[in-house]
Amino acid sequence: MLAAKPSQLDHDRTAAVPLAALTAWQALVDHAELQPGQHVLVHGGAGGVGTFAVQIATTLGGRVTATASARDTDFVTALGAQGVIDYRAERFEDLVRDADVVLDLVGGETQDRSWVTLRPGGTLISIVQPPDPEKAAAHDVRALFFIVEPDRVGLVAIAELIDKGRLMPVVDRVVPLTETRAAYEALVTEHPRGKVVLHVDGNRST
Ligand SMILES: NC(=O)c1ccc[n+]([C@@H]2O[C@H](COP(=O)([O-])OP(=O)(O)OC[C@H]3O[C@@H](n4cnc5c(N)ncnc54)[C@H](OP(=O)(O)O)[C@@H]3O)[C@@H](O)[C@H]2O)c1
Repeated sequence: MLAAKPSQLDHDRTAAVPLAALTAWQALVDHAELQPGQHVLVHGGAGGVGTFAVQIATTLGGRVTATASARDTDFVTALGAQGVIDYRAERFEDLVRDADVVLDLVGGETQDRSWVTLRPGGTLISIVQPPDPEKAAAHDVRALFFIVEPDRVGLVAIAELIDKGRLMPVVDRVVPLTETRAAYEALVTEHPRGKVVLHVDGNRST
């Protein structure tokens, strides 16, 4: 389950990698089997998993459209997305057609509105809720839900991308462990980009 940390990152930023990056990696590489040139719609492109998904899909040669809040449009574009849709102002299903892959990091009605964006034979992958198999069949798409698994091979590949400068964790802030509650509440009120890291001070005995 273990892999060496990326040599270029400190431990705080490295802590942001394993769960979120592996989830994006397994979705795109293992489950979607993304091929260069394919069009990927990533829902929630500015979040913890989404920031990795946009970068990984781009570095694999995919063409990425992402949904995000208006304030994150430039940020998600800088991660590699060719198009960013403000999910409050626009209806993505009116703008995206014939996507090869939809990566659903949001669930609910976002998942339900995504079927029409896929080409026949495309793939919808959700990490939030199992897609309805009847709706998948009706739209002639493959659809699945998965939970990230420990994966040394994936971690090594991710660390290599980071060391080559092709992938970077997005860390909104690093917070002392003693401020965990406030940091957690800030996830709801401040909508941080990427991950919030809790720093455990190894020099303190209590
Ligand atoms: N199955 C698994 O193995 C697995 C692994 C990791 C995570 N997860 C789950 O996956 C989900 C995402 O995780 P995360 O860590 O990336 O969460 P996160 O850091 O909270 O990011 C969620 C992102 O989605 C955006 N968003 C919210 N509503 C949206 C909508 N209607 N359309 C488009 N974007 C929207 C948010 O933007 P604003 O803040 O600007 O609204 C935020 O940037 C969570 O439910 C988590 O529990 C599952």
